[in-house]
Amino acid sequence: MLLAIVNLAFLIGAVLFARGLSLLSSPETARKGNIYAGAIGMGLAILGALFFPMDVPNNYLWIVAGLIVGGGIGYYVSYKVKMTAMPQMVAIFNGLGGACAVLLAMVEFNNYYLAEIPDGGTGALVSSALALIIGGVAFTGSFVAYAKLEEFIKDNFLVIPKYHHILNITLLLVLLGFTAWLVYLGPEGEMWMALVFMGIALYYGVSFVVPIGGADMPVVIALLNTFSGLSAASAGLIYNNKIMVVGGLLVGASGVILTVLMCKAMNRSLLNVLIGGFGGSAAGGKKGAQGEMVIKEVALNEAAIQLNYSKSVVFVPGYGLAVAQAQKVCKEIEDILEANDVEVRYAIHPVAGRMPGHMNVLLAEANVAYPKLLDLDEANAYLANADIAVIVGANDVVNPAALDDPSSLIYGMPILRVWDAKHVIVLKRSMRPGYAGIENPLFFHPKTHMLFGDAKDSLTKLVTELKAL
Ligand code: TAP
Repeated sequence: MLLAIVNLAFLIGAVLFARGLSLLSSPETARKGNIYAGAIGMGLAILGALFFPMDVPNNYLWIVAGLIVGGGIGYYVSYKVKMTAMPQMVAIFNGLGGACAVLLAMVEFNNYYLAEIPDGGTGALVSSALALIIGGVAFTGSFVAYAKLEEFIKDNFLVIPKYHHILNITLLLVLLGFTAWLVYLGPEGEMWMALVFMGIALYYGVSFVVPIGGADMPVVIALLNTFSGLSAASAGLIYNNKIMVVGGLLVGASGVILTVLMCKAMNRSLLNVLIGGFGGSAAGGKKGAQGEMVIKEVALNEAAIQLNYSKSVVFVPGYGLAVAQAQKVCKEIEDILEANDVEVRYAIHPVAGRMPGHMNVLLAEANVAYPKLLDLDEANAYLANADIAVIVGANDVVNPAALDDPSSLIYGMPILRVWDAKHVIVLKRSMRPGYAGIENPLFFHPKTHMLFGDAKDSLTKLVTELKAL
């Protein structure tokens, strides 16, 4: 009877995962998707897992204590985290998923070699080895990604110039060789071998992510997401826990889709991202010597007049919008302009900000209507006839060097062609570069006027100016 209830909980959980994921595909339904998949589905999976497997006595004191401590920390950090630090938090969550898989695999090796619990045989060894390799990469790789996003480490940290990919291929082959060796040895294997195996897997995670950097981080984050899902699925195989396998595979599959989308957004093949090329600081690239080129500024009242008397305005949000938390005041300007018959749209670059969908989430929070958000291709078509493009804290995603400077670090990345609009106003605090660390010729373009200052501050002052007209 209990087994039937547990299986039913797993089945309903799996259906909720799938339904939740499909709801996550649109900003309008994403919140509901999170509740279905993340809260109810995962809650059922955890409840079911408390009674599974049935023939093994569980120490409920430890389990409940772990749930309270882990859940408490999770609740606290999710509540406290700033919107701009979400990618770092996602990286840590991915990493912790990988760490769980590594720990579960080590418990299994311990059972196999030391406690001599003869369950599973070759199958248990292979799934433990898989959980160790994939979980190890997800764990240490995600923490390296976190350190890069926080700028604790530089892109070339621990990288062997030119030959790093050879090291990585060798490490992967050693890990696969280790798996075959442990399976061949069977019960003759020893715990120290599993510990060495774990050490190599953890180092491989570091080595896998260190050479990838600069503008390629979106691809890495999506890929690590895939690994954390696959590591959960392989840990599920160890315990024959169907919901872990289904949930892990769903996360893995959506991670793969996201990886493909991110590669497309960067116009890069996955292989190219993994073995070098742009993004790695080793690739060099022009920091941009703009010499005598002139920067033109615009006064607030002038900008307000231009906006008020135009027919169409396109806001281009970037990471600076997230830093300034300027989404609500952006929406306020949209309302004022639309009351004056100015058409307003938002151009969303797929890698704007620091996480997939970053701008969509922020603008949804400000109640910007979803149909007003244009994707890259729609936005470029729209910009060709727009009066003004207002760049709100975006930089790399509007850098024309991606189109016309083969020596640029971001050459080849599709970007928003904001200079196709009649006028361009750029809101940022200084001439500092964006994430890729390169100068942006757009700021010196004849159509461009700079409005220096914090984006929220400048937009708030623009509201006052617009209301005074
Ligand atoms: P960035 O190129 O990073 O530029 C952001 C700009 O915002 C900076 O130039 C900064 O200039 C400005 N800024 C910062 N705080 C501001 C504030 N309070 N007010 C006004 N401006 C402010 O951003 P982007 O155009 O969105 O491009 C995203 C970059 O991040 C790409 O290179 C992408 O590859 C990378 N990346 C993306 C992801 C994902 S998945 N989206 C993940 C990791 C990395 P000032 O300092 O002068 O103000």
